[in-house]
Amino acid sequence: QRSGAAMIPISAERAQPVREASTTLDQCRRCELWKSATQAVPGVGPQQASIMLVGEQPGDQEDLAGLPFVGPAGAVLERAMQDAGIARDSIYVTNAVKHFKWEPRGKRRLHKTPAQREIAACHDWLEQELHNVKPQVIVALGSTALKSILQDGAATMTPLIGTPVQHDGRWVVTVYHPSYVLRAPDEENKRQAYRVIVEGLRQALRLIV
Ligand code: URA
Repeated sequence: QRSGAAMIPISAERAQPVREASTTLDQCRRCELWKSATQAVPGVGPQQASIMLVGEQPGDQEDLAGLPFVGPAGAVLERAMQDAGIARDSIYVTNAVKHFKWEPRGKRRLHKTPAQREIAACHDWLEQELHNVKPQVIVALGSTALKSILQDGAATMTPLIGTPVQHDGRWVVTVYHPSYVLRAPDEENKRQAYRVIVEGLRQALRLIV
């Protein structure tokens, strides 16, 4: 844990990191994405974390490592958590879609946004994580996460940025995906997107009772 990051209190038996149902998840064939992925990437974090962060899907590095948010977007997220005063190991981090969707571009594997049918096919896994962890607050990192969490393929982020909503008895805080900070068109947009993420994380902390 880095200095300056506040710990969210969790009891001793809650503090064990868990990787959710990885064996079964890795055997998932509910959509076709498993065919081109290295492995399914389950969520990581304390079993009963108060906050769950939900991203889109594993990226190239996450697919190889089997862990969420270990690549460039993870570095942005890590910095935002530090700036918000959240220790990464006190929250549960997962993705709406558990297999990496990509297309070849030269020697690289280029991220492809999951289709709604893939988000829906993967939703049960997220539901299982929500059931096990029972977070008070879910932070949706981007549009795919929001669609999965709200189970609404038409959900859009813009009206929900800065406005937490209640869904199924939990708070849902919506922020930009950390990779947007990396690919925003200019510095001002990058700064603004980053600020939204940090502010959303702070908001998530304030919503914990
Ligand atoms: N982007 C995501 O949405 N999730 C990851 O795990 C990595 C990058």
